[in-house]
Amino acid sequence: RNPNVVAVLLEPIQGEGGIHVADHAYQRGLKQLCEERQWLYMVDEVQTGIGRTGDWFATQQAGVSPDVLILAKGLGSGVPIGACLARGRAAEVFKPGNHGTTFGGGPLVCAAALATLEIMESEGLLANARERGEQLCAGLETGLASMAGVVAIRGQGLMVGIELDRPCGALVKLALEKGLLINVTSDNVIRLLPPLIIEKTEIDRLLSDLIPLVRQFLEGA
Ligand SMILES: Cc1ncc(COP(=O)(O)O)c(C=O)c1O
Repeated sequence: RNPNVVAVLLEPIQGEGGIHVADHAYQRGLKQLCEERQWLYMVDEVQTGIGRTGDWFATQQAGVSPDVLILAKGLGSGVPIGACLARGRAAEVFKPGNHGTTFGGGPLVCAAALATLEIMESEGLLANARERGEQLCAGLETGLASMAGVVAIRGQGLMVGIELDRPCGALVKLALEKGLLINVTSDNVIRLLPPLIIEKTEIDRLLSDLIPLVRQFLEGA
């Protein structure tokens, strides 16, 4: 009831926070609360957006339409571009020219973003993210879920986290020695963000290299 509150900003799946998926009912309830209080409902899809979770936007999976949505990482396939999308009353806050940046909206980066979107459509990469994500999670469940020290395996599409009961930053270097680029966030969550073009056999290789590594790490070998 604080009159100074004007908006809520939600990350549908926390990236740096350790791959925590915001419950869909929670997202819908939050959107409804925002409507009742006339707050803007804004979502940060810098990590989750542009197909990472198997839909264009993770927020679609909860069936809510945000007033503001921000994008970056996947939008230009590595070419640095970010975007802020606004609709309804949120779109009236800025007028063209109000909030420019020197390099914002340049033709080079926009061409990279357009090419990204076109290739994602023509190569069916949303479906690939869903299918390969299911394969990855199923393989991790089979290989790791029963292991003492594995707290949870969670995620959506090709944004997957394995939470361990102990700090595991050392795994990054061990994985690199096997040719795997992984990441550890929140101290004890292995974060996997494979490219959306990853193929079935490459997921198999990821599983066969990563699972023994995690098992050895947990067994202290
Ligand atoms: C979820 C999320 N939001 C925002 C940002 C910041 O984006 P930028 O580095 O484009 O300012 C990041 C960067 O990692 C992020 O992961």
